[in-house]
Amino acid sequence: MNVAESSFLTEAFRNKRLLGVALIAAIGGFLFGYDTGVIGGAMLFMQKDLGLHSHGMQQLTVAILLLGAIAGAAVAGWLADAISRRRTKMISGTVYVIGAIACALSQNYPEILASRFVLGLSVGTASFVSPMYIGELVPKRIRGGVVSFNQLMITSGILLAYIVDWAFAPLPSNWRWMFAVAAIPGAALAIGMFFMPFSPRWLVQKGREDDARDVLRRYRQDDDEVDDEIREIKEVAGKEVSIRELIGKNLRRTMIVGVALAVFQQIVGINTVIYYAPTILKMAGQHNTGALTESLYIGLTNVVFTIVAILLLDKLGRRFFLLLGTTCLTVALVVLGVFFASPSLQSAVGWLALASLLFYIFGFAIGLGPVFWLMISEIFPLQMRGPAMAVCTMFNWGFNFLISYTFLSLTDWITKSGTFWLYAFFGVCALVFFAAKVPETKGRSLEEIQEDLGSDADQALGRDTSARPREHAAAR
Ligand code: BGC
Repeated sequence: MNVAESSFLTEAFRNKRLLGVALIAAIGGFLFGYDTGVIGGAMLFMQKDLGLHSHGMQQLTVAILLLGAIAGAAVAGWLADAISRRRTKMISGTVYVIGAIACALSQNYPEILASRFVLGLSVGTASFVSPMYIGELVPKRIRGGVVSFNQLMITSGILLAYIVDWAFAPLPSNWRWMFAVAAIPGAALAIGMFFMPFSPRWLVQKGREDDARDVLRRYRQDDDEVDDEIREIKEVAGKEVSIRELIGKNLRRTMIVGVALAVFQQIVGINTVIYYAPTILKMAGQHNTGALTESLYIGLTNVVFTIVAILLLDKLGRRFFLLLGTTCLTVALVVLGVFFASPSLQSAVGWLALASLLFYIFGFAIGLGPVFWLMISEIFPLQMRGPAMAVCTMFNWGFNFLISYTFLSLTDWITKSGTFWLYAFFGVCALVFFAAKVPETKGRSLEEIQEDLGSDADQALGRDTSARPREHAAAR
């Protein structure tokens, strides 16, 4: 992403029509964030009402959403092509409303599991198709900014969920309201998308070039741009590579970096902090209300430093933030482990748990949070970007499931300290890998990035390199 691309919000504010589309479409990322955040507070209360007595039951209630999301994302690409991105998102919003209400009305363990799975289906579909749809509708020069915008929507969703958890906590049936409120953005997505245009790329794929031209004209400044874009869409269409080619020799190293970033983003334990923040704060001696209030600080820190990172990533580079952020979160995990290992520390400096969690979330928000999503949009050549990003997203959600499904059991098996130290160990592994293998992508051409990675995209894609202009990573 170059400086021009980072001005996604600036451009969107100038072009109000575009801003409207981006905001409605981005509700997908927001819903993912909301669901990620809401369960933390809801869990404190629903475990009693629904009889979720064991750690196993609580974990599965949290994590089953991810299984739904993976299943949802798996069909999302196909649906988005078959019936359009727009209709896919309308369906997803509708399913979300059903899922949110079903969660709110759940009477027992199987019902809450089924409802969270349905929510997951919707969240996976919406958050997969949102960046795709926005990316296809905004002008080329700001496309890179969409990725960071999506991360901002996720973190804002988490923060809003923490606020809702906190606000509803004193009321009767509190956890039911926490879930029910989510039906509002779900409905906004379904209804809002009804008024949005089809993506130009989808229209071209369906042979409706004139309709695509009409849509582009409404969202672009001049006709040249429109012709260029139609040409580019036609050039790329039908040339996307298969999964087999993705893991073929020439692209393998690029794929390994993308997948490693996806896996490391999760195994340093981000979602144990996001999902279980109130639970961890209770483990550290807080009562329910205090834990929910303190979770608000965590959500706020996440949003604020995501914005800081987005503003500075183009000035200081991706690697700088990746290395700095991962170092900070690893230190925070070590301190958290020490805190839980020492009863004297717990009574003398009770605030240390919250301080460590805040430092952890700061490290994640400036580093792995936005940088993972940004880098996987920058390291792959255009023809393989769609499928390659899909594979990375699947790994990311798969490991998200694994970590959130095992956190509470791990604290039983290897103690709380052992669990945080294990995540810290993964943090050290991540640092070593990033330092050795992850190239800088800021302002560099795709060829330079491929060279650093030791991959050969040209060979893999069977391209003639003799007379090709240099393809710039940031200029697509
Ligand atoms: C991750 C999510 C996480 C969120 C927290 C995202 O980049 O992919 O798993 O919940 O950041 O801010």
